[in-house]
Amino acid sequence: MNILLIGSGGREHALAWKLNQSPKCKKLFCAPGNAGIADVASCIDIAMDDTQNIIKFCKENDINFVVVGPEQPLVEGLASALRAENISVFGPNTDAAQLEGSKGFMKDFFARHNIPTAAYARFKSIDKAVAYIKEKGAPIVIKTDGLAAGKGVIIAMTEEEAIEAATNMLSGEAFGDAGMELVIEEFMEGEEISYFALADGETYLPLTSAQDHKRVGDGDTGLNTGGMGAYSPFHQMTDKLEQKILSRIIEPTVEGMKKDGTPFQGVLYAGLMIVNGEPRMIEYNIRFGDPECQPMMMRLKSDLVDLLLATDNGTLAEYKDKVKWSDEATLCVVMAANGYPGSYEKGTEIKNTEALNDMDGVKLFHAGTMRDNSKALVSSGGRVLGVVGIGDTIEQAQQVAYKGVDKIDWPDGFCRRDIGWRAIAAQKEKAA
Ligand code: AMP
Ligand code: GLY
Repeated sequence: MNILLIGSGGREHALAWKLNQSPKCKKLFCAPGNAGIADVASCIDIAMDDTQNIIKFCKENDINFVVVGPEQPLVEGLASALRAENISVFGPNTDAAQLEGSKGFMKDFFARHNIPTAAYARFKSIDKAVAYIKEKGAPIVIKTDGLAAGKGVIIAMTEEEAIEAATNMLSGEAFGDAGMELVIEEFMEGEEISYFALADGETYLPLTSAQDHKRVGDGDTGLNTGGMGAYSPFHQMTDKLEQKILSRIIEPTVEGMKKDGTPFQGVLYAGLMIVNGEPRMIEYNIRFGDPECQPMMMRLKSDLVDLLLATDNGTLAEYKDKVKWSDEATLCVVMAANGYPGSYEKGTEIKNTEALNDMDGVKLFHAGTMRDNSKALVSSGGRVLGVVGIGDTIEQAQQVAYKGVDKIDWPDGFCRRDIGWRAIAAQKEKAA
């Protein structure tokens, strides 16, 4: 079949790489793609929010299946629009995409279906928000209702900080319309992990777990980012914990969405806090995680086209217990432009990436890259590259990944040097 992938990040490069390995994939296109994706797919110059031209391209190029990478086009209705044209698509319809598109919708959904999560309330009025903050005290978490590119969450350690954040958001000053409604919730302390399952509206298929590193600095310090590195699977994942996640969270989600008349088709990315061994929901995303998708695709042994297509066809049940993962660990280090997540330069040259092609157990995924007029590889975003290593243990995967990182000649970029540190420290302690 001919497949069109939507997106341009490291997640999409990892998906493109894996989709391209399927014997079912005849031609792979990507809109708009990046310099790395261009090695495995034909990149086309259509923006991800240009629904009309995406549909037109599908019709003219005999596209049988569209895989949507990022959340924004899904929340804006791309999957619904494609299904209305009888084009198969990986990703939820607009109403089901609200699970990520509106934190208020998500929290009300959790409450209705008894899914464990932080206690919360929703606010439009500054006075009521301030009163609630004063009643609950700090630490407390303030979130914009709408999408704010990962920046709409403030973990306030003091009441003053919380009141300031809520006031800035509700006045429209901080995030415009996306901040005009808030969710204020209980602060949860624990280990944060990402869990992924596919859903076809009726049933679900467990995938695997990963752990992201959201803060920009070593030791999980500094500003929040889109993710500076991730490994898979989570070091403390056990059958027991996975069963709890599936029975208390994933299953009631798939059933609840169906019962509410908004069946969910696509991938459920559960952002979880593990508190004393018990999983509690932080939030849902309705797409694969980035960077999590990169180490996950390195571990996946099954045909990705089959699995993603089954979410649209309603045939996921056929794959129960059949998804194969490598027993090895994989670990991704993100290389970002100096200054990220603040302001940074674009168009800086990156050299020697080809050195990674000959390395054992290393895979380079591109995120914000492009070719300039002289075909040199240059940066075009904040998160620019993902270097994934594979090994028997997380520590080995880490060593391999950093060997790859160290070959790359890019003075205008940086990375964290400690991706996987919690897992490696815990494994060392266990061995001692
Ligand atoms: P989000 O944009 O919802 O993913 O939130 C960003 C980050 O804030 C999450 O990855 C968590 O690390 C943190 N966070 C969000 N909600 C809570 C909470 N209720 N308690 C503690 N940390 C939270
Ligand atoms: N890794 C964080 C995200 O994909 O939202």
